[in-house]
Amino acid sequence: MLCLGIESTAHTFGAGIVDENAEVLGNQIKVYSPPSGGIHPREAANHHCEVAIDTIMAALGEASISLNEIDLIAFSQGPGLGPCLRTGATVARTLALANKKPIIGVNHCIAHLEIGRGTTECTDPVLLYVSGGNTQVIAFANSRYRVFGETLDTGIGNFLDKFAREIGLPFPGGPKIEEIAKKGKELLELPYSVKGMDVSFSGMLTAALALLRKGASTEDLCYSMQEHAFAMLVEVTERAMAHVGKDEVLLGGGVARNRRLQEMVRKMAEERGARMFIPEPDLCVDNGAMIAYLGILMYNSGVRHEISQTNIRQRFRTDEVDVTWR
Ligand code: ATP
Ligand code: FE2
Repeated sequence: MLCLGIESTAHTFGAGIVDENAEVLGNQIKVYSPPSGGIHPREAANHHCEVAIDTIMAALGEASISLNEIDLIAFSQGPGLGPCLRTGATVARTLALANKKPIIGVNHCIAHLEIGRGTTECTDPVLLYVSGGNTQVIAFANSRYRVFGETLDTGIGNFLDKFAREIGLPFPGGPKIEEIAKKGKELLELPYSVKGMDVSFSGMLTAALALLRKGASTEDLCYSMQEHAFAMLVEVTERAMAHVGKDEVLLGGGVARNRRLQEMVRKMAEERGARMFIPEPDLCVDNGAMIAYLGILMYNSGVRHEISQTNIRQRFRTDEVDVTWR
């Protein structure tokens, strides 16, 4: 069975084609980069509109198949930015109706977890999902995917991107901060905010910008922000693993590409006798393949969506999903 998955929750428009074994036949993304400032939902949606057809055609070309050979259309139903989600949903509905294919709307956060289960050796992991807009610790418990910890304000990626913008670096700032951090020498003191199982980053951003104005070096600041922020994430992930009694940790989201974060999570896992898993870089960031794979899992477990059930869900919560495939 082949599924075409469409992703459009935020900056990325993605089209991916996978089969039921999570083999990725095609996976293409186009990322909207705001000319200045943060993301404007409507402008990102316009971008997605412009690149949609070409991105889908490129994914089909990469897979060497035609649209007729697709058995199912899946799309990101939420959570995400309304105008962006609506663009992807409209494209998915149009393709499904015009080609008489079934359609399924999927939860974006759970797609990050399932592509990890499908393409790595993990079977029942705690997911540390770290992207621009999302920072969540998710695990399967009592027949649902539950959020054990999350950010109380901005996502870790947005936090890094905002700091990067302040020091004149273009979006996405996370990878550049990772490079600059390697040159840091002194660990500067920054707020470490873990509240129960949750984290927060806005206080650290304010403090880092204040230190910058006082003349702290960007190298030391980038290094110190990473050390503090990642330690917070490792702490809540470890606590969730202990709480639910799981010995696998999976990374997902764009920030999961950060080598320093990987190193810190790996060390925590090893100390607990647990294992860490990271999907391929192209499957860590927002992409259509993960949406397609979750679509197949849902479809094969009996889920069917009528067009009238494919409305977008901006605040779609991870624990709202009835997990019929596990
Ligand atoms: P979502 O809708 O899931 O919130 P997103 O639009 O943020 O997704 P992703 O592709 O998952 O998209 O992640 C992009 C984020 O990842 C950006 O904030 C970027 O700065 C960050 N990022 C990418 N690579 C790295 C890295 N090596 N280190 C730190 N951050 C990184
Ligand atoms: Fe994501």
